[in-house]
Amino acid sequence: MSWDPDIYMKFASERTRPAMELLARVPLSAPARVIDLGCGPGNSMALLAARWPRAKIEGLESSPEMLAKARMSGVRANWVEGDVESWSPKARYDVIFSNATLHWIPTQHILLPRLMGFVADGGALAFQMPRNFDAPSHVLMREVAGNGPWSIKLVGARQVNVLSPDVYFDILAPLAVSVDIWETTYLHVLDGDDPVLTWVSGTGLRPFVQPLGADEREDFIAQYRARLRDAYPRRADGKTLFPFRRLFVVALK
Ligand SMILES: C[S@@+](CC[C@H](N)C(=O)[O-])C[C@H]1O[C@@H](n2cnc3c(N)ncnc32)[C@H](O)[C@@H]1O
Repeated sequence: MSWDPDIYMKFASERTRPAMELLARVPLSAPARVIDLGCGPGNSMALLAARWPRAKIEGLESSPEMLAKARMSGVRANWVEGDVESWSPKARYDVIFSNATLHWIPTQHILLPRLMGFVADGGALAFQMPRNFDAPSHVLMREVAGNGPWSIKLVGARQVNVLSPDVYFDILAPLAVSVDIWETTYLHVLDGDDPVLTWVSGTGLRPFVQPLGADEREDFIAQYRARLRDAYPRRADGKTLFPFRRLFVVALK
C-alpha cells in the first residue's frame, strides 16, 4: 500500500501534536539508543532528535516514499527501510517510540510483548494510535465499503486493529514497572471543501480506495463524500469541526 507524504503532511501540525504530547510523558533524560517505528516523513523523528541531541536515533519505515521524504528532512538520524512486524534488532533500545503507526498492524497481542523485549531495562516503549474507529469518518467508510460491488474486495480494509485501553494495560503491565495510558479527543478545526475527506485520504482511506479501479474508486469516494458532508457539516464561519480520539501508552521497563 503506497503513501503520499505530501497529502499526509497537509495536516502536519495536527498529526505531529500527539507525538509531542506522547514524548512529553517519556521520563528519560539521556537515552543512548532511540528508534521511531513508522517514522513516516520524519516529523516525529525531528522531535526525538531535538529532545535527545546526544542519542543515536534511528527511524524504521516500510514505505519508500515516506523514507525518501524523511531522508530529505535534515533530521540527524539513521533511516532504515523495514517492517515493524519482522523487525528484530541485535541490541536493545532505551526508547522505542511510535506515533500513529502500530494501528496498521493486526497482531498487537504478539507485537507489543515482542517490542517490550527489545526495550533495555530502565527504558520505555511509547506509542500513540488513533482510537476513532467508531467515529462517523470511519463508520461511514466501512459502511460504504460493505454496501457496494467492492464489498468482497474490501473485507480486509474493514478490519479494526486497535484494542481498548484496559487490554493494552493487561498486555503490558506484566512486562513493565509502570504503564501510563490515556486518551485525548482533539477537536480539529478544518478549512476548505470536504476537509475530513482530505484528512482521511492521507491515511485511513488508502486501504479502501487503493484496491479499486478508477471508476469504482470515483464511485466509492462520491458516496463517502456525500455521507461525510451530512456527518461533518461546514459551519457558517466556513470551518468544519472534526473530533478525533487518540490513545497514548508509555510503558517503562
Ligand atoms: C500515519 S504515518 C505516521 C508518521 C509519523 N510517525 C508521524 O508521527 O506522523 C504511519 C507510518 O507508518 C508506516 N508503517 C505502517 N505500517 C508499517 C510497518 N508494518 N512497518 C513499518 N512502517 C509502517 C507507514 O508507511 C507510515 O509512514
